[in-house]
Amino acid sequence: MNLSSSRVVNIADLRSIAERRVPKVVFDYLDGGADGEVTLRENCRAFESVLFRPRQAVAFPEVNLRARVLGHELSVPFMLAPVGYSRMMHPGGEVVAARAAGIAGTGYILSTISGHMLENVKAATPAPTWYQLYLVGGREAAEGAIERARNAGFSALVITVDTAVAGMRERDPRNGMKELLSGSLLSKIPFVPQILSRPGWLLSFLLDGGMPDLENVVIPGQGPMPLIDVTVSLGRSAVTWADLRWIRESWKGPIVVKGILIADDARRAVDEGAAAIVVSNHGARQLDYVSPTIRALPEIVAAVHGQTEVLMDGGVRRGSDIVKALCLGARAVLIGRAYAYGLAAAGQAGVARAIEILRADVDRTMRLLGCGAVSELNRSYIEYPCEWERAAKA
Ligand SMILES: Cc1cc2nc3c(=O)[nH]c(=O)nc-3n(C[C@H](O)[C@H](O)[C@H](O)COP(=O)(O)O)c2cc1C
Repeated sequence: MNLSSSRVVNIADLRSIAERRVPKVVFDYLDGGADGEVTLRENCRAFESVLFRPRQAVAFPEVNLRARVLGHELSVPFMLAPVGYSRMMHPGGEVVAARAAGIAGTGYILSTISGHMLENVKAATPAPTWYQLYLVGGREAAEGAIERARNAGFSALVITVDTAVAGMRERDPRNGMKELLSGSLLSKIPFVPQILSRPGWLLSFLLDGGMPDLENVVIPGQGPMPLIDVTVSLGRSAVTWADLRWIRESWKGPIVVKGILIADDARRAVDEGAAAIVVSNHGARQLDYVSPTIRALPEIVAAVHGQTEVLMDGGVRRGSDIVKALCLGARAVLIGRAYAYGLAAAGQAGVARAIEILRADVDRTMRLLGCGAVSELNRSYIEYPCEWERAAKA
């Protein structure tokens, strides 16, 4: 795969390659959002409402891109968000994504919906690795995963709280996601041509053993949960604030609460002892018509008064998006689709290219902005719609 700097200039280029390499059902699972995809579009578009106010005639021999998150030093102010079903995008899946993150000196968050064993993912990177917990499979399976994550050296547990049920991603039923995962041979037939039209992907998928099990959701007495059961079991296993209590008994390390969009929930997370929160709408895959996350960020930053670290994700496709989020008070940003397009396009090399594109973007944006360190970014470098600020004060 040719990922040269003339062929792959930005994340949109990786997206196009991914679209050509994987079947439509896989690409749309990765690319799509909930319902009418209004928030999906807004997550990206809202960054356009933030404009820069550069300081001219300053130069730096080097820009300090390091960010400190939960006591870890990251070489860049972004890390890799949990992305489920990564092994369907590329056989290397979570292992190669974590490896690419580690080589770049940044962190990786492993989803519960993962096809590789968490021990193998951790072994692929010396950099900070966090485990994202869903309660699919029930409490005992979750406690088993927590213990394995602790033994393997994961340093934080991420609790995703915006998944009371799985969102309605309309592209998935149209593409026959359910039939292809679990249907009878007859029900699969209408959806097979899209798979056959991607023979390279199909061959690597078959050589990898076909549909992976959820290696990190081990049901006592039964073994790893089959992938097909996820949607139904998500609906039966919503995480509530009450669950945080028993989770805290099992996991003594830092807990990150992911999926916060309003001030009250941010304060609740602080009260429950969250070491960090992620302002996130799950990449617009859950409830449609919620705020784009860059717009929700000022409200959350104001609400927590520095009592917990604030991260954000959603719609980040350029380094300038990352710089804008840092100016608005995020300590670091999580990237989701931006690296997953790279994974689907070219495995580890694609993830590495995505990280490099964003790193170079952040470096260049900082220099053009006249700011020598990400830790020095603040609101004086941007202007943004005043109603975002009013929401923060309300
Ligand atoms: C294909 C895909 C799968 C995802 N799976 C998970 C998951 O298993 N757990 C989770 O907490 N978030 C999951 N997310 C949400 C991401 O962690 C992150 O919040 C989101 O991708 C950020 O938006 P962005 O893709 O626009 O960067 C997923 C996102 C995508 C695109």
